[in-house]
Amino acid sequence: MIKIYAPASIGNVGVGFDILGAAITPIDGTLLGDCISIQSSDTFQLKCHGSFSDNLPTDIKKNITWKAWRWFNNYTNKKIPISIKLEKNMPIGSGLGSSASSIVASVLAFNQFYKTQLTKTELIKLMGSLEGDISGGIHYDNVAPCYLGGLQLITGDKNYVTQKLPIFKNWLWIIAWPGITLSTSVARNILPLHYKKDICIQNSRNLSTFIHALHTKQSELAIRFMKDTLAEPYRIPLIPKFLHIKRSIMKLGALTCNISGSGPTLFSICLNISIANKVKKWLEKNFLTNNKGFVYICKIDQLGARKMRLQQ
Ligand code: HSE
Repeated sequence: MIKIYAPASIGNVGVGFDILGAAITPIDGTLLGDCISIQSSDTFQLKCHGSFSDNLPTDIKKNITWKAWRWFNNYTNKKIPISIKLEKNMPIGSGLGSSASSIVASVLAFNQFYKTQLTKTELIKLMGSLEGDISGGIHYDNVAPCYLGGLQLITGDKNYVTQKLPIFKNWLWIIAWPGITLSTSVARNILPLHYKKDICIQNSRNLSTFIHALHTKQSELAIRFMKDTLAEPYRIPLIPKFLHIKRSIMKLGALTCNISGSGPTLFSICLNISIANKVKKWLEKNFLTNNKGFVYICKIDQLGARKMRLQQ
């Protein structure tokens, strides 16, 4: 049997729309990411478990794991009956790379099971195209960090799709999902088709200064430039009380407050665990809209998708 875990991720990282993505892991040890287990079987089976499996499509042919399996089945032409278990530990439409997590875990598990030996670049392109299928446009800022770990810069180049960036080890990343969903394709469709020159210049300035600050280890400079001018301003109305939340947690000492991916999850950076705990408590009380929502203090997950011990 093969079991693969693929972590949650923050798309855009507040300054790099469709260009930056970071894999994350809660510091309390919670497994925030989907798992795929597969083994040979007498008949084809796809079973879905986990806290968020209820919201998966009922039509199996719409399930992203089924689509990934079909791709490998066609590519290898090996008609081996297979039993697949998807543990859906992440909410769909949350902005935490839920679909990317299922896709990455599925593609890596099938690549191993079918002994396909696709290259890293071939795997990532396959992951990107499966993601594009459901989100209304190919973007690698969730699949790349989910697969490879760390903070990834998506180049879009056919031979060097993604590059790992350095990141500050002491940053604590607080993520808060309010318990409601937002479709990525809806959040993409509201964005303008064209932008004014000054908006583009500001965005280039923010992103290039942020990346320079990472390489020169200037944490404060990086924080000052974590501002997106291409997507976030248009998406704020989709997030309940965004500006109030931002002002309030920054008063508590949080250094940033941005939308994770296409939302509605928010993420915030703190340098100090006692401030992070205060921000977490405040968000739990004031941002969550039901008992499904959650807030976690996270670190960057440097490992990305990985094999799990089979008893887990
Ligand atoms: N970069 C994508 C977007 C991420 O913001 O639409 C989706 O999670």
